[in-house]
Amino acid sequence: MASLQEEMQTRRTFAIISHPDAGKTTITEQLLKLGGVVREAGTVKGRKGNFAKSDWMEIEQKRGISVTSSVLQFDFDGKRINILDTPGHEDFSEDTYRTLMAVDSVIMVVDSAKGIEPQTKKLFEIVSERHIPIFTFFNKLDRDGRDALDLVDELESTLGINAYPMNWPIGSGQILAGLFDLYHNNVEVFRPESEAARFLPLNEAGTDLAEPNKLQDNPLWAETRDEIEMLKDAGNQFDEQAVMNGELTPVFFGSALQGFGIETFLQTYMQFAPAPSAKNTVDGEQVEPGNEQFSGFVFKIQANMNPNHRDRIAFVRIVSGEFERGMDVTLARTNKKIRLSNVTQFMADTRENVENAYPGDIIGVYDTGNFQIGDTIFAGKKAVEFEELPTFTPELFMRVHAKNVLKQKSFHKGVTQLVQEGTIQMYTAWDSGDYILGAVGALQFEVFQFRMENEYNTEVSLEPMGSKIARWINPEQLDPRMASSRNLLVRDRAEQPVFLFENQFAERWFKDKYPDVDLEEKL
Ligand code: G4P
Repeated sequence: MASLQEEMQTRRTFAIISHPDAGKTTITEQLLKLGGVVREAGTVKGRKGNFAKSDWMEIEQKRGISVTSSVLQFDFDGKRINILDTPGHEDFSEDTYRTLMAVDSVIMVVDSAKGIEPQTKKLFEIVSERHIPIFTFFNKLDRDGRDALDLVDELESTLGINAYPMNWPIGSGQILAGLFDLYHNNVEVFRPESEAARFLPLNEAGTDLAEPNKLQDNPLWAETRDEIEMLKDAGNQFDEQAVMNGELTPVFFGSALQGFGIETFLQTYMQFAPAPSAKNTVDGEQVEPGNEQFSGFVFKIQANMNPNHRDRIAFVRIVSGEFERGMDVTLARTNKKIRLSNVTQFMADTRENVENAYPGDIIGVYDTGNFQIGDTIFAGKKAVEFEELPTFTPELFMRVHAKNVLKQKSFHKGVTQLVQEGTIQMYTAWDSGDYILGAVGALQFEVFQFRMENEYNTEVSLEPMGSKIARWINPEQLDPRMASSRNLLVRDRAEQPVFLFENQFAERWFKDKYPDVDLEEKL
């Protein structure tokens, strides 16, 4: 059997981020096809009981969307790939953000007709805080898109990251001819006459085809060569360290739908995508993945995956050591011992009971209420506790109360548990003590309401307060008279004071009025 070192070196754990409709699902399908999991792309969306068609929650079926992130594991080129899917709907949630805390790198898919869209930007910002590698894929090259130079320029200026084109389109849409591959020194032909004609080698200098070809008669050829020359003169240099630090994003073009440029992309990505990394503990130490002591952290909890059972699944990212079924671990927060006997892993085609798993892998631990988001588990004697997961600043708020006053008890129980689980954030109004829910995406409210009714038998009424800018204030600087009609003072779960501003204007007005007061934004 392979050793821990060998196993962990093969793991590649990543997420695909994009704005809805950019092509995340289509790319995932193509990756599965390359991994030999599905025979034909296009089967993922329709398959029931599979990862992409997650029928775990009734609400997902009703809305026809994936509420929660799922995990997908398959093998490619000697690597074991773990893709952590992130909900592809506009109503994404904190789950999406937290999932990004459990990956080692990210693929950013951009629609080449639309460029950088709002959700891509948001997700990018969360990822770039972690300084992990980000690979960009400009998709839908088979459609008339925007000029490639324009797209790369927008990528750099909107997201503030340097870009290095690994390949460059020769035309797009109806006149798409191929990809000029600067990294592999060849041209990948779109719809070649034969498999042998798919890759045309370039000369040593990488300036022209090594052998004469009719492609050179295409007027696009000269245009592309001019652009390549310009990129070589004025563009960024490839710097692997900068890629690893998330300062330089390798850029690829292609079409997921046509399966064009995808294989080259995946192969190249696999060359650079990092193996599992070390993680910091609260004591400022680093736990290396090769450390024999098993450890991991919970980045997501999902309830009622099986509607017949009242169980929850805690998704654990393994940080170090080997997981063996039936092993005993300690939950760092409570010091409670737990036996990990009922654990699933997420192979693409089945959800199997897992025997062994390694750093980078995700295991799903059946939970009867022990776990919270961010919890550390470890085996052995030496206590390990990882740094907390960041709290994300909610943007949407609603006042909440139980419709039936006689249901107060189950209302409180439900709210407390769902908040602990990370379904939603909770605040209380400083003066009135009213309960206020905060969320990153509107869907979180719907999930909350649904689960309160179904699991806690409590109907809740939600009163929208709209979007607000939440800013934490140093308690020592707080004077409750600072509250005005343009902001609302609330307490977070840790009893810390937070101002909810109506808009940026209200925040600026506050800052002008109290220039010495520090306002802090979470992630
Ligand atoms: P998402 O998961 O990021 O939301 O995007 P998804 O893959 O579902 O793709 C959104 C739409 O874009 C789909 O079309 C899909 O077929 C199309 N698409 C994805 N990649 C490409 C590409 O490279 N070229 C072209 N031309 N289209 C692409 P749809 O009609 O909205 O959905 P469907 O009915 O085909 O599933």
